[in-house]
Amino acid sequence: MKKGEPLEAFESLSHIQDVYKPSKEVVENSYVKDYDSLYEFSIKENQKFWDDVAKDLEWYRHYDKVLYSEPPFYKWFTGGKINIVHNALDRHVNSSRKNKLAIIWEGEDGTGRSYTYLSLHKEVNRMANILKSFGIKKGDTVTIYLPNIPEIAVSMLACAKIGAIHSVVYAGFSATALKDRIMDAGSRLLITSDGGYRGGKIVELKKIADEALSGTPFVKTVIMVRRTGHDVPFDESRDFYYDELMNRPGIASTFKTEEMDSEDPLFILYTSGTTGKPKGILHVHGGYAVGIYITSKYVFNINDNDTYWCAADPGWITGHSYIIYGPLINGATTVMVEGSPYYPTCDRWWKIIEKHAVNIFYTSPTAIRGIMRFGEELPNKHDLSSLKILGSVGEPINPEVWRWYYKHIGKERCPIMDTWWQTESGMFLITPVPSMPLKPGSCGKPFPGIDADIFDEEGNPAPPEKGGYLVIKNPWPSMMRTIYKDEKRYIETYFSKYKNAYLAGDTAKKDKDGYFYVMGRIDDVIKVSGYRLGTAEIESALITHEAVAESAVIGKPHKLKGNSIKAFVVLKPGFEKSESLLENIRENVGHTLGPIAKPDEIEFVDSLPKTRSGKIMRRVLKAREMGLSEGDLSTIEED
Ligand code: PRX
Repeated sequence: MKKGEPLEAFESLSHIQDVYKPSKEVVENSYVKDYDSLYEFSIKENQKFWDDVAKDLEWYRHYDKVLYSEPPFYKWFTGGKINIVHNALDRHVNSSRKNKLAIIWEGEDGTGRSYTYLSLHKEVNRMANILKSFGIKKGDTVTIYLPNIPEIAVSMLACAKIGAIHSVVYAGFSATALKDRIMDAGSRLLITSDGGYRGGKIVELKKIADEALSGTPFVKTVIMVRRTGHDVPFDESRDFYYDELMNRPGIASTFKTEEMDSEDPLFILYTSGTTGKPKGILHVHGGYAVGIYITSKYVFNINDNDTYWCAADPGWITGHSYIIYGPLINGATTVMVEGSPYYPTCDRWWKIIEKHAVNIFYTSPTAIRGIMRFGEELPNKHDLSSLKILGSVGEPINPEVWRWYYKHIGKERCPIMDTWWQTESGMFLITPVPSMPLKPGSCGKPFPGIDADIFDEEGNPAPPEKGGYLVIKNPWPSMMRTIYKDEKRYIETYFSKYKNAYLAGDTAKKDKDGYFYVMGRIDDVIKVSGYRLGTAEIESALITHEAVAESAVIGKPHKLKGNSIKAFVVLKPGFEKSESLLENIRENVGHTLGPIAKPDEIEFVDSLPKTRSGKIMRRVLKAREMGLSEGDLSTIEED
């Protein structure tokens, strides 16, 4: 948001009057029955609040201090020894949960598998032994490039178990994106699969991985899961089949979990920012475990008999925190589903809810909008009575979409948890809890322990109904610790605009009752179908095409995807504008960055609006595109 820019979108939510009160039953079954008093306590006695939460986890050595603060660097539970996998897996195996289902998996091709806590524990131990046998040790990074199959959970947990840092790359990214992430993380080992299913087609993961690995000679080992079973290139000197390794004689199903310092790194996850280079967000064992444990519990009200399904991909933070670690720490049964919601039939998701009697269902506004297109007849054909709580994440949910979800999926019984958070936050920051009255379009109030606010340009708190910058005024245990190998960027991006407040990068407002409404990003990040993409990343992909001299990318509101991508392209001399060139440039972005980044629209232009210092003014392009005023154009220069 630039100074003086209108915030019309806020006004459009002001008319919303409907409030949805939870039933008596929901309140009675909630962990948090009285949000206001818990919240007050959690802010007044912040460290006591987090200390109480942390005591629910098992520590090898109790921490000396809850918070060690050297702003903007914060350490939590210092002196403590822990491993997140001990809490997510090992301790359940020594309890009555031993034979309970940990993971239920549904493949897109109709196959399925499930794991009890005991069988998952054994599989993870075997994988941990395999990683060790390849020389992977504490502090090493391992890149994981897998579809939504149980082996992704096994691989992540095995890395964490031995103290290695996992770096999962979403299986929709292409070779260059994968290569950049492997190089930045410095991984010596890659775990991938021959392919994955999506919409009835095979995504050629191994081929993409091979392309990424050419020119990255330090990757000495590739472990390949056989998912699709089709023929793929196989390099005998470097590649190993996952199943053969797992069944090797001598690979034990026991493993002594590495005792980690609370602040030891757990994973890197790359996300988009203002510049073209993705940010390696670094999370650690102790604080991350505490944050996602309590948010999963309080927001989804997970009980011991609950079956929980988060329909995200494990390749994103939602999958890390709320498919794998959060539910497993809580001892729940977590459902993983490969592939498209619409294949082989458009009611696939409702079938799965009915089949597994899912109690908690968590997805994105884009998915709900997509499903709404087919009408309520499809969910109505299925028994969804097992559902108790619904969730939404990734982008603002339009009030009308919220109401549809509430009525036709939740049957007016299930509260919707619209959870606002980020890769950087690790856990929910602003969200309702089930006992809280709900307002469509609002992501509720700050989670206990989180001091969130809206600031104006100068850092003054904005009054109710006034839009501004969303900030968090105190640290929280599962916050990122830094941007991998780029401390300077960490400070500049999040802690330079305001002293001692974390700048989330979103615009938002609060209403008179303290409910938050998140509107969108302030930086050059576009949320497309909930995916986070940087305009600079897409522009870098565009100019890899031989015909492209310059490009600028903007996000445009889109009914289904939240935002669509529009690219303005200046061609190099000697290239003629044509439909086929346009399509070719579009495909090249798909190949360079990934299919999710392909522009929906490309327009050939002769020049781009720029400031006198040569910066492309995307704001002007966006204003023109949307028929809005172009603001102050005094610094503009069109060459
Ligand atoms: O703009 C906000 C939007 O997604 C951004 C974070 O994206 P990412 O790191 O990919 O994490 C997505 C999953 C947590 C935020 O800065 N966002 C996320 N959740 C919501 C949201 N916008 C509005 N409402 C939400 N519930």
